Amino acid sequence: MPQINIKISAPLGWVTIDAPDKLNALTQDMWQQFPKSIKELENNDDVHVIIIRGAGAKAFSAGADISQFKELRNGEAATNYNQLNNNAFEALQNCKKPTIAMIQGYCLGGGMLIALSADIRLASTTTSFSLPPAKLGLGFDVRWLSSLLKAIPPHHLKEMIFTGALYKAEQVKEFGGLNHIYNDEDLEEKTTALAKTIAQNAPLTIQSIKTAIDDLAKNDQHIDFVNHDALTKACYDSKDYAQGQQAFKERRAPIFKGQ
Ligand code: COA
Repeated sequence: MPQINIKISAPLGWVTIDAPDKLNALTQDMWQQFPKSIKELENNDDVHVIIIRGAGAKAFSAGADISQFKELRNGEAATNYNQLNNNAFEALQNCKKPTIAMIQGYCLGGGMLIALSADIRLASTTTSFSLPPAKLGLGFDVRWLSSLLKAIPPHHLKEMIFTGALYKAEQVKEFGGLNHIYNDEDLEEKTTALAKTIAQNAPLTIQSIKTAIDDLAKNDQHIDFVNHDALTKACYDSKDYAQGQQAFKERRAPIFKGQ
């Protein structure tokens, strides 16, 4: 059953996005579960570092589960769905403890946003990234762009989103989005070693510096959220959005009309 699993192996806490049959695509239930899982580890005194990973080797996560969009991510429901996504990303961004994303295989859409919301991102050589909202016609919340821009410069982010293409880990590291890349067989060991090194250090010092760095890096105080939220909603209300889901289901290229 698709779910978010947690495992505590003190001083480390592991969160696994677990739906391998669908490349760890996140269902609505999983989006709801994700922030609760992060909170549970954040509140556990035995856990000093939190690591997020996907189940299996094929994917960190292929993003939100598209098969639920028609029912759960349409009209007014789309706004609620986006809010669930925000809750998940913010749970990581606001987590007091250090977080590491261990990324192997496909890391797409909401999966990429989860990965880039972690403090430190480690990937394997076979990892690939993509931001495919324009391939589906869905609305992309301005808050997500704000957090992506902290990891990827505007010209590269625009190319990624305008094309929806797959990018190799090496390219995303060059953009500035990744800390390190390892071979598949080394990734878990290297991640565990880094997490244990961090876990040995003083938690309050790390917490205070993490908060300070995040506050200093914020530059989104003057965003017109009302205007941006209206533009996002127009995507969800469009015929192209239905077309994008239908095309994914039928494994064909979508025909978009800008309506
Ligand atoms: N939502 C729902 N199901 C998904 C999914 C998603 N985001 N991503 C993959 N799956 C499912 C596929 O439908 C397929 O299910 P099936 O075996 O029942 O047909 C299974 O996962 C394996 O995916 P498949 O497409 O057969 O693998 P692939 O190696 O040919 O292609 C991808 C891999 C990642 C390129 C392709 O699955 C893809 O484009 N996925 C959508 C990614 C996306 O747009 N995510 C953002 C959503 S906002």
